[in-house]
Formats: sequence, C-alpha cells, structure tokens
Amino acid sequence: MKIKIADLEFEPLISEKVIVERTKAIGQQLNADYQNSIPVFVGVLNGSFLFIADLIKEIDRPCEIAFTKLASYYGGTTSKLKIRDDIDLIMDIKDRDVVIIEDIVDTGNTLHYLIDKLKKRNPASIAVCSLLLKPEALLSPIEELKYVGFEIENEFVVGYGLDYQEMGRNLRDIYKKI
Ligand code: IMP
Ligand code: MG
Repeated sequence: MKIKIADLEFEPLISEKVIVERTKAIGQQLNADYQNSIPVFVGVLNGSFLFIADLIKEIDRPCEIAFTKLASYYGGTTSKLKIRDDIDLIMDIKDRDVVIIEDIVDTGNTLHYLIDKLKKRNPASIAVCSLLLKPEALLSPIEELKYVGFEIENEFVVGYGLDYQEMGRNLRDIYKKI
C-alpha cells in the first residue's frame, strides 16, 4: 500500500516480519562473536532507536548500551558532506569492545566521522552493525562494517526509525520513495 509523507510518496520495501527475522539472526551472530566480552552497543540517534531496541533484546549475555546523536541529512533526501555532531558519546570506551549500531549506511561519511572520533578514545575494538546498506552510494569502504541487515538499491527509504523530514520513524515496515 502506498503512503504519503509530506510531499513524497512511498511504497513497501521490507516488512516488519522480515526485519524481525533478520534482527534475530544478527543478534545470534553477535552473541557468538562477543562470547568473551561485555560489549558496548552505541546507538546512533535518531535513526537507529528502534533497531537497537529490538536487537539488544536478542543479546543473551551481559552488555551495555550508550548513545550518540549525529545528523547528515537534516530534512532532505540526500546526504550532506558536513556532519552535525549533536550529542557526544559520554561513556568511557577505553579498552572496551564497541559495536556501533546504525540505521543505514549511505555515503559512509557519518560512520567514517564517528569511527575516527571513537578510535581516539582507545577502545579494544570497533565494529559496526547497520540495518541497511546502500552499496552503490558508499564512497569508500568501511573495514569495521561487519554486520549488515539488508543491502538495498540507491533509493531513499523511511520507516522503522528512518525519517523523511523527521516523519515516518514510527512506521513498522520500511518503505522506499516512488
Ligand atoms: P551517510 O553519512 O551518507 O552514510 O548517511 C548516513 C545517515 O543519513 C544515516 O545514519 C541516516 O540517518 C541518514 N540516511 C541515509 N540514507 C537515508 C535514507 O534513505 N532515508 C533516511 N535517512 C537516511
Ligand atoms: Mg542515522
């Protein structure tokens, strides 16, 4: 079913059911990979808030959760080169295994910025888990990107945390712009 948000129309791309299944599978992978550690999951607000909430429920061992807020789209449908650093990560991550949780990797600029910044704080390791990846839009490879929910075309999407002009984050499914 088509939906309208502000001036744009969207159609379904990934259903809630498929997201739930994939999230479970990623959670199991994380449980296996972080067996001997207490990882810190760092959610990148706002977009990742639903994904990190669902993903963390699949983690069956001790872990911590923290947040940072960055923005690169501010309202439109194309990524900006300039990253707005709205809320810093307050937790001390020295010697910790950090897993950054993102909603989507587009150009990769946001992640490169965040990874560079967090590396200076001397964590034991940094990995990235993103629900979505647009491989065609990625400007340079991100070595730390170890977990990806779904690879999608170079298209603008909303729902399940992702917004268009701050709307659509509450949708249970992911939709793409028509
Ligand atoms: P990047 O810096 O170009 O990789 O952009 C990453 C950020 O832009 C993501 O964390 C999202 O918040 C936002 N973003 C990228 N693509 C989309 C999209 O298709 N819909 C909504 N937000 C997006
Ligand atoms: Mg984001």
